[in-house]
Amino acid sequence: MERYMIKGGRPLVGDVEVNGAKNAALGLLAGAIMTDDDVIIDNLPDVSDINVLLQAIEGIGAKVERIDPHTVKINGSAITNLSLDYGYIKKIRASYYLLGALLGKYHHAEVALPGGCAIGTRPIDQHIKGFRALGANVDIEYGMICTEAERLTGSHIFFDVVSVGATINVMLASVMAEGKTILENVAKEPHIVDVANFLNSMGANIKGAGTDVITIRGVQKLHGTEYTVIPDQIEAGTFMCAAAITGGDVTIHNVIPKHLEATGSKLVEMGCHVIARGDSIRVFRTEPLRDAKVKTQVYPGFPTDMQPQIAATLALSGGTSIVTESIFENRFKYVDELNRMGANIKVEGNTAIIKGMGHLSGTIVSSPDLRAGAALVIAGLAADGFTQVDDIVYILRGYERFDEKLRGLGACIEVAKTEHDIKKFKLRFASPVA
Ligand code: UD1
Repeated sequence: MERYMIKGGRPLVGDVEVNGAKNAALGLLAGAIMTDDDVIIDNLPDVSDINVLLQAIEGIGAKVERIDPHTVKINGSAITNLSLDYGYIKKIRASYYLLGALLGKYHHAEVALPGGCAIGTRPIDQHIKGFRALGANVDIEYGMICTEAERLTGSHIFFDVVSVGATINVMLASVMAEGKTILENVAKEPHIVDVANFLNSMGANIKGAGTDVITIRGVQKLHGTEYTVIPDQIEAGTFMCAAAITGGDVTIHNVIPKHLEATGSKLVEMGCHVIARGDSIRVFRTEPLRDAKVKTQVYPGFPTDMQPQIAATLALSGGTSIVTESIFENRFKYVDELNRMGANIKVEGNTAIIKGMGHLSGTIVSSPDLRAGAALVIAGLAADGFTQVDDIVYILRGYERFDEKLRGLGACIEVAKTEHDIKKFKLRFASPVA
């Protein structure tokens, strides 16, 4: 098992560059199989979630050529297998985007039904509602979602909940449906806009992405494209919190500052300075952290994927903060681990009451999921002494070269594979960090 060893107490200072947005890239990669032409996607993050989806795409018969770690060429002309088994879905939920993509292109798809996960039960009823409205039959048999349509016809669909996944999946299924599809009460996250822009660059006719209503006029076929993934707002937000929690001064490059407004304005309320310039954002703090109220919401509200990182930061503030999670029902699993580092957080239902202690101390903690794992790392960077973050396999799903980028900002963090590595790290950083 790999873990991060961290010696905390050093303010992060310097410049860091974020990679492409994992969640946008997952939608794009699925969409890429919808044409028989070559599709080139660059600024892909080199993280395990992306690599698993690429394997799934190869598994159904598409040609996948990795031009370099961040660029891939996909050709979907030789797809023979319209069925994706549970092995992929278990590793990466978003491989269910292949359901919408295959249904849209071949009018037939079978993908294993995803289960719940570490952060909630995560039903997919809205995806199914959308496919059915386009004229597809959808059955669940032997753990597979089987969907088939003689023809797909445009429809007017009002989603009951705002869902990123359902918006992308139904958008994929409807780009080549006959006639006009109107999707209402859709998600507005930047990755929705990116997937729509990408599909439009392949010849689709999608309007309104980024608003509550998306209108899609079906086209007969899609063609090849070259496309660059947008920057990852959650990776950027995590570095913003890392700067805030350590009292550092970090400039994050290759970002779209507009996508970071919810996180940035919360950090300003908490006593940080946040300065956006061009495609970079600088976060620094010279005063103690202040408490705040945070409620996760759909975009442009505060992102649920930043909830653990902001909660960790608030654990170091001077007062009592309230963090309310309104998207997923089980997203406070990391709280017990943070409390083991000296935080004082009580969870009641979907609310965490955080009594800022002004201090955290290092210990051995374990990542319960991707973003929670990142939150424990940034807590470790601000804690006294050594923090060992186990189960970093979750973190590697979504953060490329996380330890290397943090070291570039002056952090003492390393991957340790063996007990010997742990001892070596502790000996090397035994003296107080300057
Ligand atoms: C995506 C992101 C994830 C992020 C989440 C919310 C990807 C690959 N993942 O997940 O990182 O945390 O958006 O911003 O992009 N729901 C239903 N029925 C459905 C679909 C969703 O009830 O058919 C509910 C979910 O249980 C949840 C809420 O809607 O409570 C939002 O989920 P959704 O936006 O679909 O999240 P994901 O697309 O799974």
